[in-house]
Amino acid sequence: MTSEAILQQPEADPFETFRAGFPALREQTYLSICEKMILHDAVRRGVELFLDRLAMATADRDGHEQMVTGARAKFARLMNVAPATIAAVRNVSDGINTVAWAMPMAEGDNVVVSADAEHPNNLYPWLRLGRRGNEARMVAPRPDGSLDIDAMIAAIDARTRIVSCASVTFAPGHRSDIARLGEACRARDVFLLVDGVQSAGILAHDLSAEPIDGLATSTSKGLLGLYGFGFLYVSPKWIERLEPAYLSRPAVKMLTDDHSTMGGHDYELQPDSRRFEVGSYNLAGAYAADAALDLLLDLGIAAIEERVLPLAGALTEGGAAHGLTPAVPSKGPSQSHVVTFGALDAGGHGFSSDPMIAPLSAYLREAKVAHTIRRGQLRFALHAYNNADDIDRTLDCIAAAMKSL
Ligand SMILES: Cc1ncc(COP(=O)(O)O)c(C=O)c1O
Repeated sequence: MTSEAILQQPEADPFETFRAGFPALREQTYLSICEKMILHDAVRRGVELFLDRLAMATADRDGHEQMVTGARAKFARLMNVAPATIAAVRNVSDGINTVAWAMPMAEGDNVVVSADAEHPNNLYPWLRLGRRGNEARMVAPRPDGSLDIDAMIAAIDARTRIVSCASVTFAPGHRSDIARLGEACRARDVFLLVDGVQSAGILAHDLSAEPIDGLATSTSKGLLGLYGFGFLYVSPKWIERLEPAYLSRPAVKMLTDDHSTMGGHDYELQPDSRRFEVGSYNLAGAYAADAALDLLLDLGIAAIEERVLPLAGALTEGGAAHGLTPAVPSKGPSQSHVVTFGALDAGGHGFSSDPMIAPLSAYLREAKVAHTIRRGQLRFALHAYNNADDIDRTLDCIAAAMKSL
């Protein structure tokens, strides 16, 4: 090819190049990132590098842990904060429980959380604090399933230490008004902890600007990594106010860098978020996260959100045009990448009593359109690899299924 011809070549669309790296997408229309990630070839290569190094004994512990350092730094970049604010944890539950037991709380202090809107992993940790004499103050969501921010703010009192909420609920999938809730928390010196697993990697966060004090996520959804690895962000003004319940080497300031050397029995906690890390890392998870974060950073989180939300809006509106009832608006501040249809709580995890939802789900499954039923609603969720063809194909399936119902 001449250099002129090369210059005239249209530039490859980075989103289509990204899409081509997912083998699963050659077999199915994948609209279920809110349930679990799919593996990109580059992430598989990241894990294979780890396995090769294990097999050939070509990396020592420091060599492997550089990948943890890299993954922390890249997640920090995605969230626009300093790497020192990020701890490597196992999952959302680990991050939430870490904050729950690190927060200095006296008997009678309370935590405010939205009862039915949250995933159980953002409820049980707070119920468990009952053991310490703390109250989990459960606030009902609005009838549409979104967080009732006014009621949550009204539930905060002088004994509230933490407010915990999802950035995007797992179902129906509203994006929460974190800014308003966070401002109210800031004004009262209350820690706002966000379960960010549904938004991380798909919707833009700027944790330097948002009034969020802590954010917990796993890498098993939009961050496109593995299960059992995740991140906990704690804002600089809170890190040294929190004292982790569990303690092991990574959390302690060492006199030397030697892993097995005690820093002395009079230990000092790390001044950064490493104080929340416990023991050895899930290294396979760190290698995967490091590779996946490169992909997401290359695309740019603002560009990912800009791609995903209009596609989600088109699916919402298209579904409505075929007679389905959307549960989340197709645009506006509460819209997210999660698209749900049907009555809330007309069923549960994987089943629905809505006469339309179960057969529609069976039809979509047959047509290889990956989705889930949660809280009785038909649920889809999009990521940067989805395109307009996915939406058209899904809407064609919905139209055909509705005709046959
Ligand atoms: C909002 C939300 N939080 C938490 C989880 C899972 O928590 P963990 O990472 O602790 O398994 C999910 C999984 O579906 C979720 O949707």
